[in-house]
Amino acid sequence: MADQLIIFDTTLRDGEQSPGASMTRDEKLRIARQLERLKVDVIEAGFAASSNGDFECVKAIANTIKDSTVCSLARANDRDIARAAEALVGAKRSRIHTFIATSALHMEKKLRMSPDQVFEQAKLSVRFARNLCADIEFSPEDGYRSDPDFLCRVLEAVINEGATTLNIPDTVGYAVPELYGEFIRSLRERVPNSDKAIWSVHCHNDLGMAVANSLAGVKIGGARQVECTINGLGERAGNCSLEEIVMAVKTRRDYFGLDVNIDATQIVPASRMVSQTTGFVVQPNKAVVGANAFAHASGIHQDGVLKARDTYEIMRAEDVGWAANKIVLGKLSGRNAFKARLQELGIEMESEADINTAFARFKDLADRKSEIFDEDIIALASDESVTREQEHYRLVSLRQHSETGERPQASVVFAAGGVEHSAESDGNGPVDASLKAIESQVGSGAELVLYSVNAITSGSTESQGEVTVRLQHGGRVVNGVGADPDIVVASAKAYLAALNKLHSKAERVAAQG
Ligand code: KIV
Ligand code: ZN
Repeated sequence: MADQLIIFDTTLRDGEQSPGASMTRDEKLRIARQLERLKVDVIEAGFAASSNGDFECVKAIANTIKDSTVCSLARANDRDIARAAEALVGAKRSRIHTFIATSALHMEKKLRMSPDQVFEQAKLSVRFARNLCADIEFSPEDGYRSDPDFLCRVLEAVINEGATTLNIPDTVGYAVPELYGEFIRSLRERVPNSDKAIWSVHCHNDLGMAVANSLAGVKIGGARQVECTINGLGERAGNCSLEEIVMAVKTRRDYFGLDVNIDATQIVPASRMVSQTTGFVVQPNKAVVGANAFAHASGIHQDGVLKARDTYEIMRAEDVGWAANKIVLGKLSGRNAFKARLQELGIEMESEADINTAFARFKDLADRKSEIFDEDIIALASDESVTREQEHYRLVSLRQHSETGERPQASVVFAAGGVEHSAESDGNGPVDASLKAIESQVGSGAELVLYSVNAITSGSTESQGEVTVRLQHGGRVVNGVGADPDIVVASAKAYLAALNKLHSKAERVAAQG
């Protein structure tokens, strides 16, 4: 029988650390349910001690998810670990993931601790955690750049204290595949009790090698857990992509000889959900989940694929969930069909009143757009005017005028804390005029650092435009996403959504990795 490769998803923790990717409790719950449908083995739901908001997210996910283990990150101290355990109380299966840096650089410059102090702290933390939870993961942060002798000493000690998984992070994405694989192998060979724990890899993508390094850690090093995120989400160049790891192991089972639990048909829906929720757009040529991943443009390829699919295809689009991209509803669909589709997509509304609001918005959209796809519904459900989350600012109406040779003008009406404001401005284009109008009233002072527009469903100008706006202010970076068939309206919605995030001053202590 083939070995099992454990898929540990950290989209909601390490992925969320990406500036602008922060998610609300409801958004995280929705993604956690999708991860459960995807059948990931472990969901790292957050870092419970970092803020009350994160604590509530981990708790809500722990109380909801039944089929995956729910994990919280914790620094190697009693307070963090106790807080993680408290958040995980309701979980059917829980894990505490505790970490402390072990590289000379991090110990000296960041922790200001001696190696002996770090050694003791690691041991005591795992001992403390093990009394609260049976499933304990330990990570030596910046493990790949740590002194191997010291690392072996720490790893042996934490296994003796009851750590069940040892994760070796390449925190800064410095590794190359062969060396990282050999590094894991040599640690496993040198740590005397290494067979008492599962070994795990956690690679960042700074040199574009996170997936290759992780696979080398599995193949050469013998790791049996991979830590990854949907779409490779994560700070800087991101984490290892879940979809690439899973499809590499499945497609090249002849080489890796490993099984994964994952239901691959849920990959594309998960990718879309994460992208639409965070505003981090998936590049078209991204493996597995990019819009072009299965598009054969050249005549020679098309001819070959038509004759026999495997001439140019090593995976089938429908096996990773592309077939799910179908027209689901139209303007004649009733409330029950709409509600059923929400449920199938894992979207839960707080109340019947919220479903009514979403249904009214759906009807409005269906009047303007003949075909409604799953992505349209996900975008509609994430819209703050439907979820009423963090909704301090809300678009009421927008009028704009643009004409060749004239400077565009926009008039925007929006609500702030329930009070309506009207604003007008001109601008270089209608989007610029609309955002300037809003800013003239709000006076946020935020810097616009990213603006992007995408068609939610490809292939037609009838598609909804999905706009991402990234704002930076006072050391915080937030993304706002807005969707509408009119991209000027979508832009105003995205801008207000980003302002809402800036307005909710959720203080967070960022994890170190
Ligand atoms: O990259 C890293 O070192 C981390 C750890 C906290 C596991 O994310
Ligand atoms: Zn990390």
